Amino acid sequence: MTLDRIFSPISIGTMKLDNRIVMPPMATNFASPEGFPTDRLIAYYRERARGGVGYLNTEHTGILLQGKASANMLMISSDEHIMPMRRLVDAVHEAMGKIVVQINHAGRQTSSAVTKMPIVAPSPIPVTEAAETPCELAIPEIEGIVEAFAAAAERVQKAGADGVELHMAHGYLLCSFLSPFSNRRTDAYGGDLPRRSRLAIEVLRAVRRRVGRDYPVVCRLSGDEYVEGGLKIDETCRIASLLEENGADALHISACNAASGYLNHPPYYVQECVFVPLAEAVKAAVRIPVITVGRIKDPLKADRIIREGKADLVSMGRALIADPHLPEKARTGRFDEITPCISCNRCVQYFRKGGMRCAVNPEAGYEETFRFVKAASPKKIWIAGGGPGGLKTAEIAAQRGHRVTLFEKTLQLGGKMRLAAVPPKKEGLLDFIDYLERRVKASGVKIELDMSLTASHVEEGKPDAVIIATGALPIRPNWPGIEESGAISVEDLLSRKPAQIGQRVLIIGAGGAGSEAADYLSEMGRKVTLIEMLDSIAAELVTHLQHYLKLRLKTQGVQVMTSTRVKALGRGSAIIEDKDGERRIDGFDTIVIAAGWKPDQDLLMSLRDKVPELYVIGDASKPREALEAVFEGEQLAVAI
Ligand code: PHB
Repeated sequence: MTLDRIFSPISIGTMKLDNRIVMPPMATNFASPEGFPTDRLIAYYRERARGGVGYLNTEHTGILLQGKASANMLMISSDEHIMPMRRLVDAVHEAMGKIVVQINHAGRQTSSAVTKMPIVAPSPIPVTEAAETPCELAIPEIEGIVEAFAAAAERVQKAGADGVELHMAHGYLLCSFLSPFSNRRTDAYGGDLPRRSRLAIEVLRAVRRRVGRDYPVVCRLSGDEYVEGGLKIDETCRIASLLEENGADALHISACNAASGYLNHPPYYVQECVFVPLAEAVKAAVRIPVITVGRIKDPLKADRIIREGKADLVSMGRALIADPHLPEKARTGRFDEITPCISCNRCVQYFRKGGMRCAVNPEAGYEETFRFVKAASPKKIWIAGGGPGGLKTAEIAAQRGHRVTLFEKTLQLGGKMRLAAVPPKKEGLLDFIDYLERRVKASGVKIELDMSLTASHVEEGKPDAVIIATGALPIRPNWPGIEESGAISVEDLLSRKPAQIGQRVLIIGAGGAGSEAADYLSEMGRKVTLIEMLDSIAAELVTHLQHYLKLRLKTQGVQVMTSTRVKALGRGSAIIEDKDGERRIDGFDTIVIAAGWKPDQDLLMSLRDKVPELYVIGDASKPREALEAVFEGEQLAVAI
């Protein structure tokens, strides 16, 4: 396995890089309300610099309050931001990294609640029906924005960063001028492609004048916006040529705008390396380096992209959240140690709330406070449950020097995550289980499969601590007729052979699990009816997954009934109630209940007062997602 392309040097303008892995901008929302880097933000980037990435981009950084995208956006909108930015730059440099600051004006993709002033755009059209209508920019205001980009780039340079990236992608202001989707102007800044490109080029030229010929300037574009009437790759290639002619040192080819739905952060439903053809097309149109991005997580695939001449550098975003040390591990051939991103987009969901969680890397976003120290006095620790939470706890506790045994009642590790990997396109979840299994074995954990831990085992074995990671059990509502209906749980469904599932299936409960079960069954050609008491399906899932599942169930012909309650069940039938009252539906061969989970606490109850230290993590404490179990497991394991 050679990675000679990805680990070969390249230059972007005067910036010399020793490898071609780039961390793209990702909005953490860790900045202070003033837009200064916080210690938490600095620690997060420092760790990624330590991991050996060729260069990292900051998240998009605001050039003006008018273009502030969110309350905790990083800002470089005044000279007061220079010294705080320098702290971030210095931290990355001390870790031997390189840092490029991406500068942005959000245009219409923000709200006046954030900017405290009217939002602006080329034309007064909201990005989606639900969004705020922006004000059309007048020409003198446009000139002010050009100047603000130039001043911001100069501040980036003064802060000591290695370069600046101009955000011309994702539907933000510069992109929205480039795109006929958002630009309906009839003056010098709208109309044909040269006119729509005018602002981007004026900004690039003004920045270039301000930072000088030798300062690296990258432009980021959406190769395709994936919306009707939006930018397509042919136009992007022409824009790319114009940017090259006007002094860009490299082009970073992304995709989408805020109306493009789930492709914005392609989840596991979308193929890996999805936007590479866009970069490839741009590369054929220019001579400067082209960077590709979009669900790239495998260093071997990244290397192949470069070897095949499709791009010159490869951005890996979520993959570097999952494992900041991916570059160094790949360079030294330690592929088995790379924590795999599963493209579940929990990171995006948490970023939006101003926090951070990564389903596979509990340390992400907690680099500042995370401490791993060897245990002062090694303990005998027993863990009940081999799901992701139990596995993570076992791995870290054993690495700290504890003597750890993990008990799993089935024949396989992975818990419910193994079943979560059954629906279409979700098999990548198994990568994380395989990874945890390798880590647990490498850490010297003793694994007992096919073994239900009991109180008498504990009394006999006398561990110092027991950790309950037994997960959750499906809730079986007490509807009249449920027993004779033969209804099965969604867990049962996913463990069954397809031949054991009837042709017409009723699924009750359309949270994530029920909706994915509907996807699974309809893909197998079953006729599916899905009932949900809320007014929306997959409501707890991150918007990308929800958006995908809604579209998918529609195209698969699943009959979805929201705001509908079940009153009773029968053999192949149900009494349901919606706004029109009660009625009976029937003709089902299989009924599946996806009505949520309750903690499995039998072992916990039986161990009270029988062991010196007793802990409970994950679903066994309160049913939630694997992410919570992994996070709680690691927190416990570093402290115990
Ligand atoms: C986001 O916050 O999800 C975000 C921010 C900037 C981008 C794209 C996405 O360019």
